[in-house]
Amino acid sequence: MILDKQIEEKILKMQDLQSPPEDETLRQYYFIGKCREYVNMLKDELKRTPTADVVTFGCQMNARDSEKIIGILEKMGFEIIEDENADFVIYNTCTVRENANLKVYGRLGSLKKMKQKNPHKIIALCGCMMQEQEVIEKIRSSYKFVNIVFGTHNIFKFAQLVYEQFKSQSMIIDIWKDTDKIVENLPSERKYSFKAGVNIMFGCNNFCSYCIVPYVRGRERSRKPEDIIKEIENLAKDGVVEIMLLGQNVNSYGKNLENPISFAQLLTMVEKVDGIERIRFMTSHPKDLSDDLIEVMKNSKKICNHLHLPVQSGSSRLLKDMNRHYDKETYLALADKIKKEIPDISLTTDIIVGYPGETEQDFLDTMDVVEKVRYDSAFTFIYSKRTGTPAAKRDDQIPEDVIKDRFNRLLKSVQEISAQNAGRFEGMTVKVLVEDVNEKDSSLVTGRMSNNMLVHFEGCKELIGSIVDVKLNECCGFYYMGQMV
Ligand code: 5AD
Ligand code: SF4
Repeated sequence: MILDKQIEEKILKMQDLQSPPEDETLRQYYFIGKCREYVNMLKDELKRTPTADVVTFGCQMNARDSEKIIGILEKMGFEIIEDENADFVIYNTCTVRENANLKVYGRLGSLKKMKQKNPHKIIALCGCMMQEQEVIEKIRSSYKFVNIVFGTHNIFKFAQLVYEQFKSQSMIIDIWKDTDKIVENLPSERKYSFKAGVNIMFGCNNFCSYCIVPYVRGRERSRKPEDIIKEIENLAKDGVVEIMLLGQNVNSYGKNLENPISFAQLLTMVEKVDGIERIRFMTSHPKDLSDDLIEVMKNSKKICNHLHLPVQSGSSRLLKDMNRHYDKETYLALADKIKKEIPDISLTTDIIVGYPGETEQDFLDTMDVVEKVRYDSAFTFIYSKRTGTPAAKRDDQIPEDVIKDRFNRLLKSVQEISAQNAGRFEGMTVKVLVEDVNEKDSSLVTGRMSNNMLVHFEGCKELIGSIVDVKLNECCGFYYMGQMV
C-alpha cells in the first residue's frame, strides 16, 4: 500500500502519456486518469457528482475486494453512496452456496427497472459467481442490460474495464481462468478508520470435495512478506490499530514463495509493527495448523484470543470423503491442545449438514464434536450442491426433510453451548476496541473484546477507534453490557 498523496501524483503524471505504460500498476493509474475525464463530462451533464454503490455479497475476502473497487471509483471522481439508485452499481458476488447466486439474480431484476429510469446507469458484476461459465452464459443471454462483467483474478483491471465501457458502450465481459499475478499499490478505501483487512494470500489449493472456491478463486498464491508488512506499517501510520490477515487457508501461507516462510513467522513480523494493537486472521485449516503457530499465539500480546477452526463434519468417514486430511480424533486432539496452551481462547467453527451420504451416525459424530469442543460460536450450513465439485456428482444426496431435522438439532446444541460459554467472563474487566455508536441507543457505544464478542457500554463517539478497559457487568446471550473503568 502506498500513501494517497503518492497515488494522486502518479495518476496526474500518467495523464500526460499518449498510451498506457507497461507496468501494471501504472497502467491502471493511467486508466483511472482517463475515466476521470468521462466522469467529469458526466458531472457537467448531470449537474451533480455521479454516484456509485458497491454491494458486497459473501465473505471478508469479498469485503476487502470491494474496498479496492471503492478506492478506484473514488479516484475516478465518483461519490460513493449506499443506495442502488446510484449512477454506477457494482455487485461483488459470492457463489459458495447456491442461494448466494439466487439472491443476485433476484436483485438484478430490480436494478433493471432502475436502469430504465436512469439511462446513465452503469451496472457491473464481479466476484466469485462470475467465474462460473453457466452464469456468464445466462447474463449474456438474459441480463443484457449489464454493462461490465469481470471475475476474481482481474479485479486489478477494474479501471481499464470501466474505461473500455465508457468508450464502447457495449457489454464488456472479461473473465480469466486463473492468474499468478499480484498487482500491488492500487488505491483502496477502508470501511473503518481503525481496523482493516489485509490480504496475505489469494486462492486455495485444497479442493475440499464440496467447495467451489478453488475453482473460482484459483491456485494459492502468497503475497511477499515485505509487501504485507509495508501495507500494515502504512495502515498503522494512518491510525489503524486492528488488522485481520486474510486468506482461504492462512496456515499454508508462504509455502510457495521464492523465499518460503511460515504463517507463524509472518505473524512474528506483523507483531513488531508499532501502532498495531490487535491482530486477527482468517481462515485456519486444521490440517496445516502448526505447533509453531500455537506457540506464537500463546506468547503474543497482540494476536487476539480467537481461532476460527472449521471442522465441517465430525465424522471421520465423511471428512475423508470431503478431502479434509484430518479425522475426528486428530481434530479433537488439536482443539484440546490449543485450549490447554491458550486458556480462555475462543474457538469458532464452520459445519456443513447434509453432505452426500451423511448417515445419522455421521451426524451424531458431528454433534459429539460440538459437545466436546464447546465452540463459542459456529456457522452452520446446509450442504449446497455446487456444479463442478466432486460431491455434486454423487447420487446419494440427502433428502431435504432429513437435513432440516439435523440442522435444527445442530443449531439448538450450538446455541445452548455458546450461551453457556458466553457468560464465563461476567464480572471481569477486559480490553475493548470501540467500533461504533450503539444503533439503538446513542448514549451507548459498541466495541469488541479480543475474543470477538460485542460489548455495549456508556460512551461517546469520540471513543471510536480506541481500546478501553470495560467491566463486563452482565452477559445478555451473545453480548455483554458493561461499563468503562
Ligand atoms: N455447501 C455448504 N456449505 C459450504 N461451505 C463451503 N462450500 C459449501 C457448500 N457447498 C461452507 C464451509 C466453509 C464456509 C466458508 O462455507 O463450511 O468453511
Ligand atoms: Fe473451500 Fe476447503 Fe479451500 Fe476452504 S480450504 S476454501 S472449504 S476448498
